[in-house]
Amino acid sequence: MSVSGTGVAVHELAGPRHVAIIMDGNGRWAARKGLSPSAGHKAGVERIRDLIEACKDREIEVLTLFAFSSENWQRPPKEVELLMSLFHSYLRREARRMQEQGIRLRVIGRRDRFSARLQRAIADAEDLTVGGTTGTLVIAADYGGQWDIAQAARSLAEEVASGARAPESIDDAALGERVQLADLPAVDLVIRSSGEQRISNFLLWQAAYSEFYFTETLWPDFGVAELDAALTAFRQRDRRYGGRSEDGVEAQA
Ligand code: IPE
Ligand code: IPE
Ligand code: MG
Repeated sequence: MSVSGTGVAVHELAGPRHVAIIMDGNGRWAARKGLSPSAGHKAGVERIRDLIEACKDREIEVLTLFAFSSENWQRPPKEVELLMSLFHSYLRREARRMQEQGIRLRVIGRRDRFSARLQRAIADAEDLTVGGTTGTLVIAADYGGQWDIAQAARSLAEEVASGARAPESIDDAALGERVQLADLPAVDLVIRSSGEQRISNFLLWQAAYSEFYFTETLWPDFGVAELDAALTAFRQRDRRYGGRSEDGVEAQA
């Protein structure tokens, strides 16, 4: 650790390996321009390409984007339809580019409530990019943190029911292996745009020790400069994980 010219303590640790973003504020962005939410969602999708590129340049291994929550089905049917169609066209259009960049795509969430056509597009995009080793893009769609924990619990219950596992063997590690993203680096940083300071049923289990960064910027205005501001804030955080920071060693009782 060093002290920068401004006197701010800066950790010279590598940046985050895994950044997750709650892409919020499309509706308000559109409303301010007198446009429909759809226009906001379309503008929001356009931000993703540059961010993937920027993450690659900054050696961020995983970028997870919250695109549609379990609760977003409550939106007006026309808006849900538009979001589904944007997701479909995004996958069809961008999968080839990701493959060329060596980015592996993964979609987390329920899937069974999507149309057969969208489910096919998801599977095709995942298959096409399966060999990517430069980085991983995770899209959370029809995803809810509570659903995620429930599906992990169900899989453990099934093992108990089949006699393959004893109930006493269920602990945080066993559950942690069965939630989504378990095979990827831990989520270091969760960013939420649009000024809301809540998790909205995003990564509940996985964010246990994530750093949080909130910005007033609405998602369609969130660019690489905002990503860099979040990364700078992240590097100034002291992650203690319940322990005592290195700086605090002298202060030990
Ligand atoms: C986020 O933007 C996109 C989704 C939830 C799919 P919103 O549509 O929630 O934007 P606001 O919160 O209404 O501004
Ligand atoms: C969270 O945003 C979900 C996504 C960004 C996909 P919402 O706009 O749905 O969250 P709330 O309703 O403000 O909590
Ligand atoms: Mg919102």
